[in-house]
Amino acid sequence: MTEGIKDKIVVVTGASSGLGEATARLLSAQGATVVLGARRADRLQVLAKDLEARGGKALALATDVTRREQIKALVDSAVQAYGRIDVMINNAGLMPQAPLEQLKIDEWDRMIDVNIKGVMYGIAAALPHMQRQRAGHFINVSSAAGHRVGPGFAVYAATKYAVRALSEGLRQEVKPYNIRTTVISPGAVDTELPDTITDPEVAEAMHKFYDEVAIPADSFARAVAYAMSQPEEVDINEILFRPTRQDF
Ligand SMILES: NC(=O)c1ccc[n+]([C@@H]2O[C@H](COP(=O)([O-])OP(=O)(O)OC[C@H]3O[C@@H](n4cnc5c(N)ncnc54)[C@H](OP(=O)(O)O)[C@@H]3O)[C@@H](O)[C@H]2O)c1
Repeated sequence: MTEGIKDKIVVVTGASSGLGEATARLLSAQGATVVLGARRADRLQVLAKDLEARGGKALALATDVTRREQIKALVDSAVQAYGRIDVMINNAGLMPQAPLEQLKIDEWDRMIDVNIKGVMYGIAAALPHMQRQRAGHFINVSSAAGHRVGPGFAVYAATKYAVRALSEGLRQEVKPYNIRTTVISPGAVDTELPDTITDPEVAEAMHKFYDEVAIPADSFARAVAYAMSQPEEVDINEILFRPTRQDF
């Protein structure tokens, strides 16, 4: 399944681990050129070298998605190096869950900055190029928590609902430019995400839950590949998937 993937120029934020890394690996193996952004430049470099050693093409750039000039530089580098951007995957995120009553307000701010504003800055960086090209594809990462709120993850869920709202607005606005928009909402996937939880009790419960039900990160990568590999006139707008064992 390399149709719609081979030779595509794909920018991935949050590519230093988890879903972003797995996606970069799968798309690169199928012939895409991947442009990797995250803060941990050392991990990006190792990944880019590994992909190149396997015959792929990759560019890595240290990027903090909360800094709009940095995400703009990431996207502009892709366009400068390869002439265009075909797919922008706004994936970077964090999930420091805790009940509201703990007032972890710095963590609320951080989630808003990375999970919402990071996606908005990613849209701002890529949209002008895609408008000019009259082609492109945004893939924004929400969550099962963007479909259902529960105690202990109100702020995280709020950020992921916001990603869906933004993506739906974007979808409607970019029709004149032949741009596709996909939101992918995973359930529990085995990544470093639970490590962002600072409350020891919540962290322990979440790690136990992930140990029991989480599925490998290539589940997400395959969802990306599915959306990308549709014919140009087919726009997959939403994908929600969970581990078979996950009940909510
Ligand atoms: N795993 C799941 O169960 C699950 C379920 C639903 C949704 N998601 C969503 O999937 C996305 C990816 O998470 P993951 O599960 O792959 O977790 P992960 O392994 O912790 O990866 C998160 C990625 O985001 C990057 N990141 C965090 N803050 C950043 C910043 N300020 N600027 C740039 N990059 C930043 C991290 O890189 P650096 O630290 O190097 O910057 C890392 O590459 C997130 O949006 C998450 O909410 C995950």
